[in-house]
Amino acid sequence: MRTQPLPDFVTADVDLVGRTTLALPGRAAHLAEISSCRQLAQLVGRQSPRRFVLGSGSNVVLSGDFDGLLLQMAIAGRELLGEDADAWYVRAGAGENWHQLVAWTLARGWPGLENLALIPGTVGAAPIQNIGAYGLELADRFQSLEAFDMARGRLLQLDRAACRFAYRDSVFKRQGWHLDAGRVVTSVTFRLPKDWRPLTGYAELAAELDRRRLARPDARQIADAVIAVRRRKLPDPATVPNAGSFFQNPLVSAELGVRLRQNFPDLPCHVQPDGRIKLAAGWLIEQAGWKGRDLGRVGMYEKQALVLVNRGGALGSDVLALARAVRDAVRQRFAVELTPEPVLL
Ligand code: EPU
Repeated sequence: MRTQPLPDFVTADVDLVGRTTLALPGRAAHLAEISSCRQLAQLVGRQSPRRFVLGSGSNVVLSGDFDGLLLQMAIAGRELLGEDADAWYVRAGAGENWHQLVAWTLARGWPGLENLALIPGTVGAAPIQNIGAYGLELADRFQSLEAFDMARGRLLQLDRAACRFAYRDSVFKRQGWHLDAGRVVTSVTFRLPKDWRPLTGYAELAAELDRRRLARPDARQIADAVIAVRRRKLPDPATVPNAGSFFQNPLVSAELGVRLRQNFPDLPCHVQPDGRIKLAAGWLIEQAGWKGRDLGRVGMYEKQALVLVNRGGALGSDVLALARAVRDAVRQRFAVELTPEPVLL
């Protein structure tokens, strides 16, 4: 059998340690650095045991070596596509840094993404888990996106309904979509409404704005406050390797929520539009005794129990062992199941 030569943007046997924010060791059999849709088209029809799309690696747990093809998304570009009486429409390439996009829109005078300042990762990864913080989700500012269909070799356009956004979820997590490189997100278009209103309801953000004596903050002031709150509580992956929240906040039935609240009156609960109740996983983990506690070379962060940190030299297996211990402890104490937020590779 003849094997096709690899395109020049594909590298074999790549060290992955610097490519994920948890800094776990591992190697990829092949890695393609993708800076255009044309390169994706060149990969159509190539056989590979597995494929996975990597942004800046801020939501991935590397369990060891990866025997397939990693697509490292580096498609650049930010532009104002247009505007109408109601909104500005801004498009960004999948490889753009998320926070730099937020800062760029604010500097141009287009508010709307400020509550999502400083979230690590790329633009292309943002819709996958519908990133959210301080009362805003990506879905709230989403217009459409383009994805490259690797089976048919053509670009698709998806609107908001097609993306099926939910809390930390979207269609892209299903089989055949983004994560396993069935259809790969190449650019995202945002709708930034001109009828801008500050979103300052989140208690910690409100307290920070209060401290700064900002009763009517503008979008840049909100971004600054968000950045300050995040820096206080969340470790910088450049110094303390981590993948942000390691677990999702669990959504439980109203019955279970009420019962838990009777037994644990301090448990933070948020009623969802569908009647379910969102619990604070960080609180559950802290109460289960895991805040600031280590297991081997990993631990749950001392300032925010929801963040799993690599204390140095950890392996994927260390991360999985700690995740299991934390899930067991929370299940035993509260009968609540925690779901990891990052993708296990
Ligand atoms: N809490 C504790 N102990 C802790 C951590 C939190 O008791 O160690 C309590 C807090 O006191 C608060 C509640 O849990 O009552 C919620 O905590 P926090 O406001 O810190 O937010 P979170 O629910 O832990 C979520 C997102 C974050 C996002 C913040 C702010 C998830 C899984 N995480 O965290 O997103 O920045 O809200 O909106 O939804 C991420 O996804 O990587 C991430 C950092």
